Amino acid sequence: MAASSRSIAVFGAGYIGLVTAACFAQLGHRVTVRDIQPERIRLLQAGDIPIYEPGLGDMLAQNKERLTFTLDASEAVQEAEVAYICVDTPPTASGDADLSRIWAVIDTLRDASHLAAVVVKSTVPVGTGTRIRTALDEAGLHHVGYASNPEFTAEGRAVADFLHPDRIVIGTTDDATAALLTRLHTGIDGPVHTMDVASAEMVKLASNALLATKITFINEIATVCEATGADVTQVADAVGLDHRLGRHFLNAGLGYGGSCFPKDSRALRAMASNTGYSFQLLNSVIEVNDLQPRRAVQRLKNELGTLRNRRIALLGMTFKPGTDDMREAPSTVLASRLLAEGATLTCWDPMARPAPTEPWALAERHPTVVQALTGADAAVVVTEWPQLLDTDWNTARDLMRTPLLFDGRNMLDPAEFAQAGYTVMSIGRATARPC
Ligand code: UDX
Repeated sequence: MAASSRSIAVFGAGYIGLVTAACFAQLGHRVTVRDIQPERIRLLQAGDIPIYEPGLGDMLAQNKERLTFTLDASEAVQEAEVAYICVDTPPTASGDADLSRIWAVIDTLRDASHLAAVVVKSTVPVGTGTRIRTALDEAGLHHVGYASNPEFTAEGRAVADFLHPDRIVIGTTDDATAALLTRLHTGIDGPVHTMDVASAEMVKLASNALLATKITFINEIATVCEATGADVTQVADAVGLDHRLGRHFLNAGLGYGGSCFPKDSRALRAMASNTGYSFQLLNSVIEVNDLQPRRAVQRLKNELGTLRNRRIALLGMTFKPGTDDMREAPSTVLASRLLAEGATLTCWDPMARPAPTEPWALAERHPTVVQALTGADAAVVVTEWPQLLDTDWNTARDLMRTPLLFDGRNMLDPAEFAQAGYTVMSIGRATARPC
């Protein structure tokens, strides 16, 4: 075991908690993961993982002698020097983040006076750390350090993002805690930025809001491109060559989804509103993103004349490829809108696990793309799964009732598909018609 090996308790066995635990174990630390869901802990104890994340299962297996999973909070902190809080902070009805799971963990730490530090990785409103510090002080834990250490990992490449981050943000004004956390990250390939707690909390919200804004900006440019005859992909490629702007997050599409951008942008807006400030730019970003799948349905309706009794195939359901996550996926809004217009739905996705309720309960799911396309009046590329590039589109064309594709991720070459007899609508590009 590494000389600098530490003992860490991780609260929350979700995406973030498990990736944090696996990566810290990989760095040589001993990690005990605590979750309140018995089934989740039972699976982990049996060597299974309850979520899909590339590389995570292998990393947990490789480091299993340094990893323990428990339902018992006191067992988790018994030997720990650092308690990492990685529980979810879902939105409440007011748009604020629900911090009840964080407070439940803090309550279990009241007797853990042997801890050196409590660290929050969950995304929280600015000011949460100050409140936690007060709670720790009131519990007599003045000597226990506190830090915010936000995560910037994207699903599908979370392990790589954790081990090779653009930056490690450590928010604490306490030098000993900053030094301890810096040591904990030894072996990670990324610069450490230490700052006060509130600023660290804001870095996370600001980063996600800016990325969401960048996506929304290109989606708005795409809408103007459609009206004026420009091609958004060419525009984004050339705009992105400016080193001050960069090409990342300039892919126009059906809008952002997932567990972070929608929730965090709404949380930042709610936080600003609570101070009496209307974050106008963010209001627009959220509104434009909500409209994005609705615009697609309207365009499809214009093309087909009506959507009533039209059979529409949705290709991809997850919010992005490489994950089974359906949280805030644009596909769900698309599916609901199409059903509301009277369409019937077929769908295909290699990994999605949709809730067995509407709209998905009303969609026919097929194991192959070609089966989902059979008899369809139109297909919408919702998620840019690479399998779509390997599909036998010539066979599919002959099996579709109308060879109409709506490429919601601009992944297919319109000219090539038009040559093959398809009409291809896409985002921010001219509609290509069969030649
Ligand atoms: C994001 C952040 O990248 C990560 O740093 C943060 O910690 C959590 O939120 P994630 O939600 O996993 O990660 O996905 P990401 O790959 O960033 O994509 C988010 C959404 O934006 C997806 O719906 C994706 O399709 C969309 N997107 C992304 C675009 O529409 N266009 C782009 O150019 C990039």
